[in-house]
Amino acid sequence: MNNIILLVDDEEDIRDVLDISLSDLGYHVLTAANGEDALSIFRKENPPVVLSDIKMPGMDGIELLQKIKLENSDTEVIMITGHGDMDLAIKSLKYEATDFVTKPINDDVLEIALKKAFERISLRQQIRDYTENLEILVEEKTRKLLEAERLAAIGETVAGLSHAIKNIAGGLKGGIFVLEKGIESDDKTYLRQGWEMVKGNVDKIRNLSLDLLSYGKSTEIKYQLCDPNKPVREVAELMISPAREHQIELKTDLSPDLKPFYFDPEGIHRCLMNLVTNALDACKKPELYEESEDIPDTDPSAKEVIVKTLRTPGWGVEYQVTDNGSGMEEEVRQKIFQSFFSTKGTRGTGIGLMMTRKIISQHKGLIEVESRKDSGSKFIIKLPVVENPPTEKAGT
Ligand SMILES: Nc1ncnc2c1ncn2[C@@H]1O[C@H](COP(=O)(O)OP(=O)(O)OP(=O)(O)O)[C@@H](O)[C@H]1O
Ligand SMILES: [Mg+2]
Repeated sequence: MNNIILLVDDEEDIRDVLDISLSDLGYHVLTAANGEDALSIFRKENPPVVLSDIKMPGMDGIELLQKIKLENSDTEVIMITGHGDMDLAIKSLKYEATDFVTKPINDDVLEIALKKAFERISLRQQIRDYTENLEILVEEKTRKLLEAERLAAIGETVAGLSHAIKNIAGGLKGGIFVLEKGIESDDKTYLRQGWEMVKGNVDKIRNLSLDLLSYGKSTEIKYQLCDPNKPVREVAELMISPAREHQIELKTDLSPDLKPFYFDPEGIHRCLMNLVTNALDACKKPELYEESEDIPDTDPSAKEVIVKTLRTPGWGVEYQVTDNGSGMEEEVRQKIFQSFFSTKGTRGTGIGLMMTRKIISQHKGLIEVESRKDSGSKFIIKLPVVENPPTEKAGT
């Protein structure tokens, strides 16, 4: 099919001679005696190569060339020119003729011209195929990368989860060991101690599974019209005395200019609770010294955690949780939102910030961190104003 040549010449003798030699070369030849016929055959057969006389009565070769190029610019058109037609030949090149051969036609020259024309066609096709393959290849590669990323994320989650469960299981085993000792020796101290260990770890596993459940479930946020200072007050009320136990001052600094808007107060409560808990952890002294040292009120290194609300242009509220605790190395800071990333050993599961970020992103809000090792950290949450409860808008 693709070795068709449309031969156009008004002279019958030339058509016959060329038809024979081209057929001998293995081409399938269609012939036309003038431009009009050539064009209608071209439209029907769409031959890849056209060999046309340049001078013909009626539609001449140049006009035919232009029309063919308009219909299919990929067509290779070779012009046959007479001795004195140099100007026309050059003009034809301007209209993107592939080549020209002069009369009387030398078979070898024609053969080379045709070979080149067909080569150009197949080269063009190859480039097209290659480009297409490239696109498919890129798509395939992208898909595989995404899949690998997903698997890596699952792997990381499973690894973190196993670690958390292993810790708890270790705690339970320790508790059971102490309990057994207590039973053996009928010692109440052991019994009580073992029982506390078991209870603590049962609580831990309960919290872990609750957190995981609510993370796995794409928990919908429950929008309510609420004062953005409210969750801060609640968290402060709950955390002020635990903070004092560790000589940490928990303060609030609430903007009086905030207007109520729609957000999920329970979700934001959880986020602030996570941030405050982390801030307090960062301010606590290493456990070893905790009991022995006794800090005077005027201690310049007094630890404090401040929860602040601000009216920030473009946002419903900005929360800032600032501490002057341990701060973080840049390396740690980059990982804190990953699931199960924790530097707190058995005391942390590394779920707090992952959950916090999830809730904030459900609110289409922002969460940012500034931190310097040994100087403290500042966590910033910004929530967009929502003036109508989105669930009502969605008609659910
Ligand atoms: N205010 C902070 N100052 C210093 N480090 C922090 C602070 N907040 C978070 N981090 C670091 O980020 C890590 C991850 O915090 P995240 O709340 O996700 O987990 P966690 O507190 O270790 O455990 P939990 O799941 O019990 O909250 C912490 O282990 C800690 O290293
Ligand atoms: Mg935490």
